[in-house]
Amino acid sequence: MKPETTTATAAAGRVHFHDLHPTPADMRAEVLAGLALAQKRLSPKLFYDAEGSRLFDAICELSEYYPTRTEIGILRRHGAEMAERLGREALLIELGSGSSLKIRTLLEALRPAVYMPVDISKEHLLQSAEDLAAAFPGLDVHAVCADYSSAFVLPVDHHDHPRAAFFPGSSVGNFEPDAAARFMARVGQILGPGGRLLIGVDLIKDKHRLEAAYNDADGVTAAFNLNLLTRINRELGADFDLDAFRHEAVFNAELSRVEMHLISTKSQQVQVAGETFAFTEGESIHTECSYKYRIDGFHALAAEAGFTAEQVWTDPDELFSVHCLVWE
Ligand code: TRP
Repeated sequence: MKPETTTATAAAGRVHFHDLHPTPADMRAEVLAGLALAQKRLSPKLFYDAEGSRLFDAICELSEYYPTRTEIGILRRHGAEMAERLGREALLIELGSGSSLKIRTLLEALRPAVYMPVDISKEHLLQSAEDLAAAFPGLDVHAVCADYSSAFVLPVDHHDHPRAAFFPGSSVGNFEPDAAARFMARVGQILGPGGRLLIGVDLIKDKHRLEAAYNDADGVTAAFNLNLLTRINRELGADFDLDAFRHEAVFNAELSRVEMHLISTKSQQVQVAGETFAFTEGESIHTECSYKYRIDGFHALAAEAGFTAEQVWTDPDELFSVHCLVWE
């Protein structure tokens, strides 16, 4: 992580920007280490360059991708109750804020003292923070560009405000369960006693529906997954042949997770940052898992992290859940 924090104040005067983005050297080391594993792996946080963030927004609009609209429906319907749990005048931290669209459904009721969106995609974060500040005059916005999956400290002290966190999109499912518990415990440390975490969690459902959500007919998810290779080609001087890899998403029912892969369609060699990696035909790079939970299973995970489940809201079809957890 870059040691210095630069703070720029945007024209509106209410968006403060804190840059804790990982360096290109961090990315190079991580990519080379992942490709050297027996099961090759690339971290999902690498998805989110400018084009990846744009493609992810397009995924959220797909008819097959039910999580986004279902979660927004739950937030709209129960937002007042959620806001009551979280409390007003809080320092509200959103992890992986993306386009900051979901939080808009809660801001009127929540009236936070400070909104702190944290995201790894710098340009996207800045633009979204400025759009939000323009839509909510008077709201103090501190945008933090950082990798939330690694430890980071809040760039500003706001100890005078109670703290709350928002972690939507079932991104918690993109961690392995033990890492998810460790991550939530870190969030709890930041929140402090009595701090609440509002978190969206996708629920276990039939395989067909799950697989369609991660393999849409228009190929947007495929483009999103493959964009990772385009990014590595550009930023690390690699020579991945985009026509020689294909997207695959399968639900592993035993482990309750959708697995995303990039499959090499032929035997080939790829140069990445001066190193050579060999692929057999059909060999995969594992790019992401999306774990699905049952409500009680997720509550057990939250308890392991040190949180108490206070309330859960779902949609009528029980596709998705939003939980209020309290750190004690
Ligand atoms: N948090 C999202 C999820 O697990 C991320 C995501 C959605 C995703 N679609 C994807 C990641 C496709 C990789 C590929 O649902």
